[in-house]
Amino acid sequence: MTGFRHQSCVPPRVKAVLGSALVGLLLEVAPTKAADVEKIDWSELPSTTLPLFYPGQSSYQWLRSEEHKRVAKAVEDGDPCLECHREEEADLGEALVVEHSIEPNPVDGKVSLVPLEVQAANDEVYLYMRFSWKSSGEGPGDMGNFMRYDGSEWQWYGNHRQHEAVVDDGQPAIYPDRLGIMIGDENVDMYPGQGCWMTCHDSMVGMEDQAIEDEVAQHPVVGALYKQFGLSNDLVRKFLPESRTDETAWDAVASAEELKSLREEGKFLDLIIWDAALTNPAGVAADYSVLEVKSVDEGRSQLWPNGKMRQGPAYVFDKAAVGFSVLAESDLEDPAKAKHLIVGKTTASADGVEFKEGDILPAHILDSAKAKGSAADVDYAKGSLDNGTYTVVMRRKLDTGNPLDDKILEPDTVYTFGFSVHDDAAGKRAHVVSFPVTLSIGEGEADIQTVTLD
Ligand code: HEC
Repeated sequence: MTGFRHQSCVPPRVKAVLGSALVGLLLEVAPTKAADVEKIDWSELPSTTLPLFYPGQSSYQWLRSEEHKRVAKAVEDGDPCLECHREEEADLGEALVVEHSIEPNPVDGKVSLVPLEVQAANDEVYLYMRFSWKSSGEGPGDMGNFMRYDGSEWQWYGNHRQHEAVVDDGQPAIYPDRLGIMIGDENVDMYPGQGCWMTCHDSMVGMEDQAIEDEVAQHPVVGALYKQFGLSNDLVRKFLPESRTDETAWDAVASAEELKSLREEGKFLDLIIWDAALTNPAGVAADYSVLEVKSVDEGRSQLWPNGKMRQGPAYVFDKAAVGFSVLAESDLEDPAKAKHLIVGKTTASADGVEFKEGDILPAHILDSAKAKGSAADVDYAKGSLDNGTYTVVMRRKLDTGNPLDDKILEPDTVYTFGFSVHDDAAGKRAHVVSFPVTLSIGEGEADIQTVTLD
């Protein structure tokens, strides 16, 4: 497909004027050489180990407050975190987990520091990355959202382990293990120095000043995030201050024209999420961007709601393929039971199925055949858990052709990455994160230099 992208960019009228010779030339210079991602010998490539630490409630606002030990002004002026905190990740994580500083709701048994091993390579077409880290969960966190039929209606079932449904109602603690990769550059104000903290605000879920859910749901932009699925979004997601007319007010979203021009200037972040439940069974990762909200890129991803979710599923499991059509509560602890609805492999139509109380189905399906556009850019991302250690290999085109929601990665250029890991059914902000990390595609001084494959 890549070979034709340049050709299709040329409007028909121009093509007619230029004639076919130039079109042929454009085709010739299009990148064609790509490695076989499954054949890369990672043992030959250098690796960098990044300390990911627990950040508690260290939001954009907290960092600029008096509580951040007389450095509010320095942070506001854009001083990089690492200027003062180099090699302090372990101490910071320890302070936040053990001493509970800026942590009003500690997660029982949270591991405060997770070393993440990163390897990176590129060729003319792709960036390849391999990650490895030790999970602190007891088993694979490879289950996503479920719904349970209560005899008359479908209800959400299972949630992260600090959710009230788990703490108060005794539902199982379920939250997928994940790896997040945030990509930005100097176009994004202060991001190279302050990384993911540019997107983390007090109004977000579980933070000091969480926005009122009804107000979020009614907001014309933030509340409309899941409109195409008939759902309202009642939580504030990551956003960049530049997308607000009042830098940190979650509801002061800039006009559509302003947001468009910010995107055109590259003032947004690219975010890839590999998820053990919601993307890995399809061998891919999800592709988001962060500006006014964290949202899935244009097009359509593999991940899709199962019918109308709580208003009724479209798919059940295919009994012929997996041995049952619905799950029961006790099945969730059985690793041998299928947990993912993969269209064409494990699914059958829910039409005419009579459900009974206690039936459980995944709230999402994975449908690779319908995936298209920018949302489907990370078309290879495979992870496995072996003896408690995850290994994930993924690839993404350097130039995805989607400059309004992806960072187009150029050779010999330095980018700023941020990494996060979720595990052990601890959800939302209860993750571990990295300080900003530089990565260069090929040449260029950076924490991680990709090896250019030939
Ligand atoms: C100009 C220096 C400076 C900069 C820049 C800076 N900090 Fe700090 N930070 C401090 C000092 C000093 C403390 C208090 C002592 C300590 O815990 O290291 C602190 C404390 C913290 C703590 C709390 C630790 C605890 O014990 O409660 C966190 C978390 C933190 N900083 C995160 C960040 C992040 C994230 C950034 C970048 C966005 C950042 N800091 C930028 C100087 C700085």
